[in-house]
Amino acid sequence: MPPLFDWEFAADPYPAYAWLREHAPVRRTRLPSGVEAWLVTRYADARQALADQRLSKNPVHHHERSAHGKGKVGIPGERSANLMTHLLNIDPPDHTRLRRLVSKAFTPARVAEFEPRVRELTDRLIDGFAARGEADLIHEFAFPLPIYAICDMLGVPAEDQDDFRDWAGMMLRHHKPGEPGPPRGGVGRAVKKMRNYLAELIHRKREKPDEDLISGLIRASDHGEHLTENEAAAMAFILLFAGFETTVNLIGNGTYTLLGNPRQRTLLCDALAAGDDGLLATAVEELLRYDGPVEMATWRFATEPLQIGGVRIAGGEPVLVVLAAADRDPAKFDDPDVLDLRRRDNQHLGYGHGIHYCLGAPLARLEGRVALSTLLHRLPDVRLAVPPDELRWRGGLIMRGLRTLPVEFTPQ
Ligand code: HEM
Repeated sequence: MPPLFDWEFAADPYPAYAWLREHAPVRRTRLPSGVEAWLVTRYADARQALADQRLSKNPVHHHERSAHGKGKVGIPGERSANLMTHLLNIDPPDHTRLRRLVSKAFTPARVAEFEPRVRELTDRLIDGFAARGEADLIHEFAFPLPIYAICDMLGVPAEDQDDFRDWAGMMLRHHKPGEPGPPRGGVGRAVKKMRNYLAELIHRKREKPDEDLISGLIRASDHGEHLTENEAAAMAFILLFAGFETTVNLIGNGTYTLLGNPRQRTLLCDALAAGDDGLLATAVEELLRYDGPVEMATWRFATEPLQIGGVRIAGGEPVLVVLAAADRDPAKFDDPDVLDLRRRDNQHLGYGHGIHYCLGAPLARLEGRVALSTLLHRLPDVRLAVPPDELRWRGGLIMRGLRTLPVEFTPQ
């Protein structure tokens, strides 16, 4: 079996996933943290597992956690910050109630209205480096865009958004290239500061509602249904948390993939120049399938003995559905290792499947479309400034993304 979770795997996990799909499609594996989990790599098994309600999202079902009383999974600092009651950690009926409430506020129409603002933000960020002829697209583009976008949507005042940027950077252990990383305990402290800020903001918006998403969440709760202030804070937090690193990686991985596939890039640029936006939409879906932001769906735990792909899983055992492997399964996709921006009927699992299907997909698609098309339009000869094997990938388990993406281009 090829080694998992080393440097080479981080740079290109797809050969190892191809091996697993073929030889051990449901495989018990020791993770770098020491926890043992089942990895599910075939498309059909992955889709079925994502929809299987016997797989709980609630970490109390993890036998190791209950045996030792100490969480090994989840967001660092999250337990102490009391933000656990968010969508990705709960099951029906609580999940159904909370998801219905947030869906009332976070509607596709509200997202669509937001497009001019995303365009403005994107142009402003590119203005910041266009004259220089070089940039780190993670640090200066992919990282700030989603955090400012979601802050705007939530209703975080402009003057506080840089604090959010710093806390989010801390939570991602993101720092400027060449500068030291965050101090020990910094992640927990950043989560706590964000929690306290959100609690206060929710309080203020309750007194003085506005047209923003937080006010929408509060309003939705005031119409008969019950959304506590803690639930609203957890909801705002998960929107930030789930919508942030994912979108950074969509822009980062997507740009990197396009730079490495010049023919497909030309196809897209030609379509955009001809005013045809149809290809842009299928391109974003294909980039999600080909090298998506979420390598594995978040933790699931068997609430009872069950089978996946004919393999027995005992109650309490953790299951990780490997979206990146499923989305390259030749049993589902023709030529899965080939990037085809025109791919039709692309039923990739990049946004998950079932009741936890990504709530933010319309916003992610909007940001992906605007960021990629604007970048290609404004920096037509943008190219990698270093050989691809010098790029470093973040070592996390759930997400897949680059630490830096140095590029050069003719100064504009
Ligand atoms: C759930 C992917 C952007 C909010 C998910 C899941 C995936 C995913 C795979 C399901 C996880 C699981 O079942 O374990 C992505 C990708 C994105 C993206 C690839 C960007 C390209 C966003 C954005 C937001 C968001 C922008 C919000 C602003 C959520 C929420 C959930 C979720 C709230 C939990 C839904 C639930 O449990 O009912 N996302 N996401 N996501 N996503 Fe996204």
